[in-house]
Amino acid sequence: MKILIAASEAVPFCKTGGLADVVGALGQKLGAAGHDVCLVLPKYRRVEASALEGGIARPIELPLGGQKVTASLRFLHRRAVSVYLVDYPTFYDREGLYGFDGKDYPDNDRRFILFCRAALEGCRAVGFKPDVIHCHDWQTALIPAYLKRSYGSDPFFADTASVLTIHNLAYQGNFGREALDQAGFSAEDFASDRFEYYGKFSFLKAGILCADRLSTVSATYAREIQESEERGFGFEGLLRKRGSDLEGILNGIDTELWNPETDSYLPARFSARDHARGKAVCKRAVQKEAGLRLEPQTPLVGIVSRLDYQKGLDLAIAAIAPRLGRCQLAVLGEGDAALQQEFASMARRHPGMAHFRSGFDEAFAHLLYAGCDLFLMPSRFEPCGLGQMIAMRYGGVPVVTRTGGLADTVSESSSEGRPANGFVAKPGDTQDLGAALDRALAGYAGRVKAAMESRFSWDQSVNAYLELYRKAIESRAGSATRGRR
Ligand code: ADP
Ligand code: GLC
Repeated sequence: MKILIAASEAVPFCKTGGLADVVGALGQKLGAAGHDVCLVLPKYRRVEASALEGGIARPIELPLGGQKVTASLRFLHRRAVSVYLVDYPTFYDREGLYGFDGKDYPDNDRRFILFCRAALEGCRAVGFKPDVIHCHDWQTALIPAYLKRSYGSDPFFADTASVLTIHNLAYQGNFGREALDQAGFSAEDFASDRFEYYGKFSFLKAGILCADRLSTVSATYAREIQESEERGFGFEGLLRKRGSDLEGILNGIDTELWNPETDSYLPARFSARDHARGKAVCKRAVQKEAGLRLEPQTPLVGIVSRLDYQKGLDLAIAAIAPRLGRCQLAVLGEGDAALQQEFASMARRHPGMAHFRSGFDEAFAHLLYAGCDLFLMPSRFEPCGLGQMIAMRYGGVPVVTRTGGLADTVSESSSEGRPANGFVAKPGDTQDLGAALDRALAGYAGRVKAAMESRFSWDQSVNAYLELYRKAIESRAGSATRGRR
């Protein structure tokens, strides 16, 4: 199958969160399974020059708001996954991917309209005629809409189906009415049964309406976003309407990249069979690097996270503060300024027992996953979550909330179809989280092995995506036949 993956971030090129891990790993797995895979990404400043070596550059003209702009495509032919990067420095040569200093870039509508156009025109330019385009999140959600509208009768895309994966419904890409003109859709599309959403032009809504098939990243989240207003962020009715086309496919983790037996970031490596010494060395390294007391017996709680309301970290602070002393805390996180301040002030109040490192730090993330005894992820909602899976592979026993993908990967009792591999609290409930922490501090040692033996490989999920692509191709073919009649 010829598959184009369109996304706004992917490992190893650029990353702000789990989306990049998932897109990077999925592409590799599909390529390794023998499919013809191409990935399209913006060429951000962060994409290192070394990643472009050997790439072929060619200019490409793209429509934007009634004008033509000229971008450059950098095409890199690779064994498992070919890549083309959309180079348009005015839009992408910036410090951040989506914003800077806590603020979104004000022209994100134009930045990702152009990217969606470039993804499609790029296929033509490099002669890659996809059977399916797999889009991820609002940044690429206009692609299915373009395929249905502007490219509806374009012979190049006559057989191209689209799949849209929603990684997080909290981000919808809603912009002012003028973005509709920039994107080149017609005035009729600004209606509540089309792309309009409470007076805005919603990229995600356009994608949800137009994609041949939809998916999200866990079975529980797929249910939650159709059932509850709080989780559906206003899209629950729309998602219910498309319910038979929507599937929950659990993310995997890249078990080569995240492997405690080979991880070069670690001062000592270890396996599920033999982890005690290696984990102890890593824990000591975290304590040293974080300025925590070098106490091997005190349980170390780790957090690696975007600092965002979604992640429930305000509740974590309230639950963990009274327990410092019985445990230590090391936090790595980037995001919300108020949360950064709270963590920083907690670290000041508890020297030697709590540490906060602000920023995005791949090396410290690896070390913290390996060195922590418990990994705390008390999300208010969580479409899938990779942090808990990575932590488990590194022997960090997860303390999570029962929501989305956390509910599908962590269980406190073995009666839920898997061995008990962590501790689970109610979402949004500080007291309940505190109680789960107490159980975890008392009983984590007995769960390290079960956590490390939990399997989150991609194999099953890759097959589920391939099946979804086939269904999308079938419906596309069906609607094309109906259209011709
Ligand atoms: P989300 O995508 O909602 O942020 P996930 O748990 O799915 O949450 O994925 C988060 C990914 O980003 C993981 O790979 C995690 O290790 C990484 N990550 C998050 N924050 C940081 C940080 N400050 N430094 C390094 N890696 C981080
Ligand atoms: C989003 C979600 C997270 C998920 C990730 C990858 O960022 O917040 O739960 O794991 O996407 O799908």
